[in-house]
Amino acid sequence: MLKLRDINKSFGEFMAVNGADLTVSEGELVAVIGPNGAGKTTLFNLITGQLKPDKGRIEFMGKEITNIPPYEICKKGIARSFQIVNIFPRLSVFKNVQVAVISQRKKNNTLFHPAQGMLIEETNSILESLGLSKKAGETAGSLSHGDQRILEIAIALGNDPKLLVLDEPTAGMSPEETSTTMELIRGLAEERGLTILFCEHDMDVVFSTAQSIMVMHQGRTLIQGKPQQVRENEEVMKAYLGEE
Ligand SMILES: Nc1ncnc2c1ncn2[C@@H]1O[C@H](COP(=O)(O)OP(=O)(O)O)[C@@H](O)[C@H]1O
Ligand SMILES: [Mg+2]
Repeated sequence: MLKLRDINKSFGEFMAVNGADLTVSEGELVAVIGPNGAGKTTLFNLITGQLKPDKGRIEFMGKEITNIPPYEICKKGIARSFQIVNIFPRLSVFKNVQVAVISQRKKNNTLFHPAQGMLIEETNSILESLGLSKKAGETAGSLSHGDQRILEIAIALGNDPKLLVLDEPTAGMSPEETSTTMELIRGLAEERGLTILFCEHDMDVVFSTAQSIMVMHQGRTLIQGKPQQVRENEEVMKAYLGEE
């Protein structure tokens, strides 16, 4: 579904991403792991078009998307959440998601008049999937940090993506919230047949959730493989586990 080959991105002299490879197959839950500063967020910004690579090629569903603007990439079916919460704090939880659903319909020119009921249905179904139905009427800004992160995922789902890209979905959460959230993400993938790419710095979270793990170190891909393969890889042990 998604293929990155030999991607480079520098900021001035500094090579933030320097030889990254990644393969995501349809229906998979794939994690990118690596210490802070490894280049995970930069890599995600390259995938969703917020940044352009200096070198390398990105393909989605068999087509090159390397130099396509973010809204085009979103239209092709890649939606994302950010490492930092990105919601409308004064709107209700319901409105936050509905805005995304409406804007997606507009992008695809399918927003014809009597569709309002469907928009409401779709919004409710997304809230339901993420366990936010009971909080639909609350102001987004009044939610706990954990619920705001989950709302962000709901907003991304409003874009009806094929591939959902989540940048540290559990950042700033308590261990309990973290495990609930990872459970939700796993459930989402199953229930909606979504492919999910996420990054994390917490190894435990990743090894208990991902089907495929890509390890980044100083901008480079060390390995991508099944959790077991990654766990047994010596280079990973040295470069990553050694630092923790
Ligand atoms: N816009 C930018 N300008 C300059 N340096 C950046 C920029 N974005 C990221 N970096 C640097 O690139 C490196 C990788 O950052 P990032 O992709 O955010 O890593 P991660 O998400 O793995 O923690 C870091 O050293 C960071 O300081
Ligand atoms: Mg990051």
